[in-house]
Amino acid sequence: MVIIIPQETLPFESKYWPIKKYLEFYKKSLEDPEFWAEEARKIDWFKTWDKVLEWDPPFARWFVGGLLNVSYNCVDRHYQTWRKNKIAIYWEGENYEEKVLSYAQLYREMNRFASILRKLGVRKGDRVAIYLPMIPELPMAMLSTARLGAIHTVIFSGFGAKGLADRVNDVQAKVLITADGGFRRGKVIPLKKIVDEALEIMPSIEKVIVVKRANIEVEMKEGRDYWYHELMNKAEPYVEPLPVESTHPLYILYTSGTTGKPKGVVHSSGGYLVYNHSTYKWVFDISDESVYWCTADAGWVTGHSSIVYGPLSHGATIVVYEGAPDYPAPDRWWEIIEKYGVTIFYTAPTAIRMHMRYGEEWIKKHDLSTLKVLGSVGEPINPEAWLWYYKYVGGERCPIVDTWWQTETGGIMISPTPGLDYMVPLKPGSATFPLPGVDADVVNEKGEPVPPGIRGYLVIKKPWPGMLMTLHNDPERYKETYWSKIPGVYFTGDYAIKDSEGYFWLLGRADEVLKVAGHRLGTMELESVIISHPAVAESAVVSKPDPIKGDSIVIFAILKHNYEPSESLKKELKEHMRKNLGPVATPDEIFFVNKLPKTRSGKIMRRVLKAVLSGAQIGDLTTLEDEASIEEVKKAYEEFKRVVSG
Ligand code: WT7
Repeated sequence: MVIIIPQETLPFESKYWPIKKYLEFYKKSLEDPEFWAEEARKIDWFKTWDKVLEWDPPFARWFVGGLLNVSYNCVDRHYQTWRKNKIAIYWEGENYEEKVLSYAQLYREMNRFASILRKLGVRKGDRVAIYLPMIPELPMAMLSTARLGAIHTVIFSGFGAKGLADRVNDVQAKVLITADGGFRRGKVIPLKKIVDEALEIMPSIEKVIVVKRANIEVEMKEGRDYWYHELMNKAEPYVEPLPVESTHPLYILYTSGTTGKPKGVVHSSGGYLVYNHSTYKWVFDISDESVYWCTADAGWVTGHSSIVYGPLSHGATIVVYEGAPDYPAPDRWWEIIEKYGVTIFYTAPTAIRMHMRYGEEWIKKHDLSTLKVLGSVGEPINPEAWLWYYKYVGGERCPIVDTWWQTETGGIMISPTPGLDYMVPLKPGSATFPLPGVDADVVNEKGEPVPPGIRGYLVIKKPWPGMLMTLHNDPERYKETYWSKIPGVYFTGDYAIKDSEGYFWLLGRADEVLKVAGHRLGTMELESVIISHPAVAESAVVSKPDPIKGDSIVIFAILKHNYEPSESLKKELKEHMRKNLGPVATPDEIFFVNKLPKTRSGKIMRRVLKAVLSGAQIGDLTTLEDEASIEEVKKAYEEFKRVVSG
């Protein structure tokens, strides 16, 4: 099905171009060596670069020799214009509190915040961990850190003490910014208490800054813990933005991979900002009139690029909402869109499916006519959800930009482009085409392009400015994970199909990574937590398709001999996962088994587990990781089916 939004209702001057015309334009962007330099001129530099790209495969350095400051680009340069008195942030708390910050106020608060960080000893290159709920102090903390040339690591406030400590320890952060607590569905999450628990195993943390949000009792340790508001009373009004090299890291963000240890994805300052600045225009048609709302949590890359750096670099107005999407009622989101006159709304398929289940009656209670562009990200969007989103949320006026990207890519890579002067017709469920300058393709294991309609691996064949620089402290793993599975190209880990017109259809992960409600979780990471429970000897975690969440978590566990399977033990294990990795990691099902299907070399055959779960016949599809023969897999399947059903 092809959706063509009537030209007269398009919010932009974009014209639909025939696909052929798009491809010509796209091809030119790939061949033009000046393409990214042209884009880089749209942000402010203290010194221009000497070289656009230094490509020492697989390490790319963009805009080498250039000096900039990201906080300057996101705040100062608007503060110096009429935008000074324009709204930068509309913040809404879960309990309906409101805070509105103009660019002038953001400028003032960010400078003061930077001054207190500096007073606590934060210097260029130091790592600052941010573990905050979705309050205005979160983007401010990121910008203030960047102002000093320090590197932030935002840790999702849904993570428990272990998740927090693992990340902080890997990055060796010196300062941690948190809150007493945060609100979620009317309950208070005691963040400082979780931090206190984690602090026992986070020796690198010297100072803790605590924002008062929930007004709950917390313990404060003299000389280590400081109230944010007390520090701010003694803050200085201005801190010079430090010019840093384009390749100086802006942040390190942890994401799950196929091994137990999360990966610290390192993003640059210059390339990253240029990439996001350009793509937010192309994809969302962001402008001065935009009221932009991305519902993600800042703990994920979407929160970095799509809440903070992309929109603020354009001087747009952003909405930041603290709470749950359906609290206190299922129309909370629609209420927010109406209230602030949101023009660009960006969310995840999981949330769309959840609202679809609540029904469109909740939408019809609100006037959503300000909306101009709708976005989707995080997992494949099924055509049914796409059409519902298009019809009821967008009123059949708004293009849907299904944006494919990853923590590692830094910004959107495949998406329709309503903000360029072309846009291809949309197909529900397809992210359409790669953005200009992005050389994406679908290939087989040998790196050869696969014919239309055939499933292959999504790869990127040329460096792009938003790409990760490396993995923190682990360049070898960076090479191995992304650049050696298929030689010479960036391996995304996703399956995709190109149709006969060249449209890209993203099909989800080809590796052992789960996408639970858009959150990325590695099976090994989950397994390492489950076996840390004293009752568990061995375990395998697999995903099971879930109509709303995309993937749900299923655990197969072999118990130690002195433990008996029981419902209460299941409950305890669920709680154990939740406590350690946060609510997203709560398993939906736990099976106690006495054996797991394995290959001769001892690898768990997850394909077998999945097939047994879904009741499907075991296919003959092989994955890159597979080393067992079809016969072996079949035999294991039959055996395991008996174990589970018995
Ligand atoms: C993985 C990356 C990028 C921000 C949030 C997720 C999946 C992402 C789409 C999409 C199909 C998508 C992929 C990708 N994914 N966007 N539009 N269609 N799949 O970032 O946690 O790094 O996850 O999310 O599987 O590899 P992330």
